[in-house]
Amino acid sequence: MSESPPLSVEGITVRFAGIVALDNVSFEVEPGSIHAVIGPNGAGKSTCFNVLTGVYRASAGTVRLGDVRLTGLRPHQITRLGLGRTFQNIALSPRQSVLENLMLARHLLTRAGFVSTGLRLPNATREARRHRARVCEIAEFVGIAPLLDVPAGLLSYGDQKRVELSRALCLEPKVLLLDEPVAGLNAEESRTMAQEILDVRAGLGISVLIVEHNMGLVMGIADRITVLDFGRCISHGSPAEVQRDPAVIRAYLGTGRGEDAAAAAQLGAPHGEAAQ
Ligand SMILES: Nc1ncnc2c1ncn2[C@@H]1O[C@H](COP(=O)(O)OP(=O)(O)O)[C@@H](O)[C@H]1O
Ligand SMILES: [Mg+2]
Repeated sequence: MSESPPLSVEGITVRFAGIVALDNVSFEVEPGSIHAVIGPNGAGKSTCFNVLTGVYRASAGTVRLGDVRLTGLRPHQITRLGLGRTFQNIALSPRQSVLENLMLARHLLTRAGFVSTGLRLPNATREARRHRARVCEIAEFVGIAPLLDVPAGLLSYGDQKRVELSRALCLEPKVLLLDEPVAGLNAEESRTMAQEILDVRAGLGISVLIVEHNMGLVMGIADRITVLDFGRCISHGSPAEVQRDPAVIRAYLGTGRGEDAAAAAQLGAPHGEAAQ
């Protein structure tokens, strides 16, 4: 098991017409760690994710995976260099089987490419067989092997999220990026997902970067947390340190949104403070 390189985010600034969505944000995802980026609605979490994966361009700053500079590269190049991601809204192909959905991810890694695969050249067939074996291994690891032949659209929401996780793993990432992995899941499904994320780290040795609104999940599994508010990094540390930081609770209570207040309550905001 090779250790993943550190993912370094240095001084990232993103401007949209009139607003600064990220303002000089820096943090490092240490090898083999689970790192969470949290913050109230509109804090810049998704923007941060989109910069890391090459969907948005930063106005300033650098993202590096080990010694390799990712800033300015295109999303598929970044994926190939080792950043595998899931999407906040499930983006599986509903009529295709789970296996086909996972094989699509493998195509990104395929040297033979679509043409020779279509012609069934011997090399391509061998390569396809190898990819299929690896996909089955990953499905086994995540516990969705019995679902491989089922059309993705027929699965429960929780199982679809697990297929999404498997699909990201099929990209053989060095760092796995998860965008709200438990959004929309019930309590039991959330616990299963939390365990799977821990298993991924323990079993595959890859680092995990999570953007998440669910404080229970984040506090339960993250090693380090970066807290954003209005595009700025307002706190950074272990779950215990962040949970104690009054600036973090203030940020969540300040938005006036129910879900942010609920997050503050999970952080341990004194009773009644949410009403102020
Ligand atoms: N494509 C975009 N164009 C203009 N403004 C954007 C765009 N994406 C995000 N923003 C703005 O950037 C800020 C941060 O948004 P976002 O990263 O989605 O926050 P979060 O994911 O933490 O809720 C918000 O003010 C949002 O309206
Ligand atoms: Mg978001």
